[in-house]
Amino acid sequence: MQPTSLVNIGDYSRDDIFRILQSALKFKQNPNRDLLKGRVCATLFFEPSTRTRLSFETAVNRLRGRIVGFSDSATSSSAKGESLKDTIKMVGNYADLIIMRHHLEGSARYASEISPVPVINAGDGSNQHPTQTMLDLFTIYETQGTLENLTITIVGDLKYGRAVHSLIHGLSHFNPTFNFVAPEELHIPDKYKTFCDSKNIPYKEFTDFSADSINNADILYMTRVQKERFTDLMEYEKVKNVYVLHNDMLDDSKDNLKVLHPLPRVKEINQNVDDNPKAYYFEQAKNGMYTRQAIICDLMGIETNLL
Ligand code: CP
Repeated sequence: MQPTSLVNIGDYSRDDIFRILQSALKFKQNPNRDLLKGRVCATLFFEPSTRTRLSFETAVNRLRGRIVGFSDSATSSSAKGESLKDTIKMVGNYADLIIMRHHLEGSARYASEISPVPVINAGDGSNQHPTQTMLDLFTIYETQGTLENLTITIVGDLKYGRAVHSLIHGLSHFNPTFNFVAPEELHIPDKYKTFCDSKNIPYKEFTDFSADSINNADILYMTRVQKERFTDLMEYEKVKNVYVLHNDMLDDSKDNLKVLHPLPRVKEINQNVDDNPKAYYFEQAKNGMYTRQAIICDLMGIETNLL
């Protein structure tokens, strides 16, 4: 059965993923259509965002739908103590679809269970960021011509990075090999290693960011240390600049390598990498608009392949 909300990328089968990617390709060819005319989507962002919120809102605008919502929860009645349950029930009365980012892990699942309309998880704490994964998969396919049998090196905050956690699940259908590069304090949580073991997915762990983990990779997935998840900022200060990718570190990398990053970037990719043809993070972010158009239409049961 086709999913009715996008809460966890693990709820999407390989076929579901390919259906979205094919639709996203159509939107990349023609992003301006009338498919959402008369529909209203709500963006409820309890945490800051640039790309996710604006690409969702652009996606809807380009399909002639309308957007309501908030980008700062301090301007909503949650600041007066209204519960998430009541907020979702109210917004579900107004809108045809809810797109929500929230700091609590599991909040999107909860919202999907009480909402009368589909819910899209735009990030729930350190847990999941499934629409980021969908655009990551689209970008990997676009640059590699396949999702199968790739070596993915993931670097940075593997403990708190929700884009990382979703990506591991999303790629699990495609026989990946992972290199996990993180300092001890931010290493990949055991549950993701157990997940890889259960799927016979090979992985190696590194604490040094060096040629060993770069030169055999097809995708180098850089991530930011997630300052907002630290309860002790002294701990953040210790690891905040632990790894920085410089242009010369790519000298012996594979020809097909692409450097991705969910963004925002802080200092983990030196700006001297930006002009390297292997840098693909801005194109990756642009792909977010097309994949989000595809996800919205899929959840609303709107046929996208006709045009
Ligand atoms: N990648 C991503 O989620 O970016 P924003 O936090 O700017 O939405």
